[in-house]
Amino acid sequence: MKQRMVLFSDEPGWHGARLRRAFASHGCLLRTVSLRDCRVDLSHPAGLRIPGFGDGLPDGAFVRGVPGGGLEQVVLRLDVLHALQALGVPVYNRARAIEVSVDKAMTSLLLHAAGVPTPPTWAVESAAQARRVVLRQTARGEELVLKPLFGSQGVGLRRIAAGDALPELDAGSVYYLQRYIGPRQGSGQDYRVLVVGARVCAAMTRRGSGWVHNVAQGARCLPAPPDPRLAELALAACQALDMDYAGVDLMHDPQGRLQVLEVNSIPAWKGLQGQTDVDIADALVRDFLQRCAPARRRLA
Ligand SMILES: Nc1ncnc2c1ncn2[C@@H]1O[C@H](COP(=O)(O)OP(=O)(O)O)[C@@H](O)[C@H]1O
Ligand SMILES: [Mg+2]
Repeated sequence: MKQRMVLFSDEPGWHGARLRRAFASHGCLLRTVSLRDCRVDLSHPAGLRIPGFGDGLPDGAFVRGVPGGGLEQVVLRLDVLHALQALGVPVYNRARAIEVSVDKAMTSLLLHAAGVPTPPTWAVESAAQARRVVLRQTARGEELVLKPLFGSQGVGLRRIAAGDALPELDAGSVYYLQRYIGPRQGSGQDYRVLVVGARVCAAMTRRGSGWVHNVAQGARCLPAPPDPRLAELALAACQALDMDYAGVDLMHDPQGRLQVLEVNSIPAWKGLQGQTDVDIADALVRDFLQRCAPARRRLA
């Protein structure tokens, strides 16, 4: 019997097509489903309904997107991932790993707790506290980056220098402030390392025209430097957040030390694919299927 997998995604696009091809080449059936359409339903044998799987459940779940929304909506979507896992269905990345990496404050805390170098960071609710952080840091000659706690793709980042007013946040938001470690003038670069199954699968340098080097913001993708420290820190970051695979963002600070900026549990890899001969979708699917194998044996 062919394994029946679910791909959680609202916009499968290029990545979905690559995954579809990779799953097919490994003899799996794949159904793309939005987490918005999954539901808790106690009249169902498993208490959970995944469209397209009838009274059953998928053999594994590959998560390519958790749609944003209100707190209750997001909690219910994450409940579905937690419930699948509790029912013995492998979820890639695991629900907890997705939660902690979507939340930049938790990512920073876990990196720090594991001793992985990351810039000094503050996450506070009150505007007065945030202003105090800015005043203290800018008095020391530092600049800060204000990031949306649940942001991605380089959207909504602000650089805060001495004398800059902190922007008003939307109701319900918090201030996530991180020491700015890029060059003061001109543009720099950062690195993206993709770790799959405790190994570096691919890496690249990203160079943008400003200071935000996301591919989604137009950064150019270039080969990564042959620096073993990049791999060492990316693997440590992936381990600190207990991820099956991760896209790790790193940057050199002004002292030339590598720092981990962010760990992505649902990374895009279109830009990275141009820098490697490895078929990244295939590497991910292979690793995922390996993780599914012991779960199948346990359930048999
Ligand atoms: N502390 C920082 N110092 C300098 N540049 C930063 C810092 N944080 C982020 N950046 C730049 O902004 C980009 C996006 O930040 P990141 O934390 O990865 O958020 P996102 O989830 O939006 O990708 C980084 O890849 C890097 O180029
Ligand atoms: Mg990033």
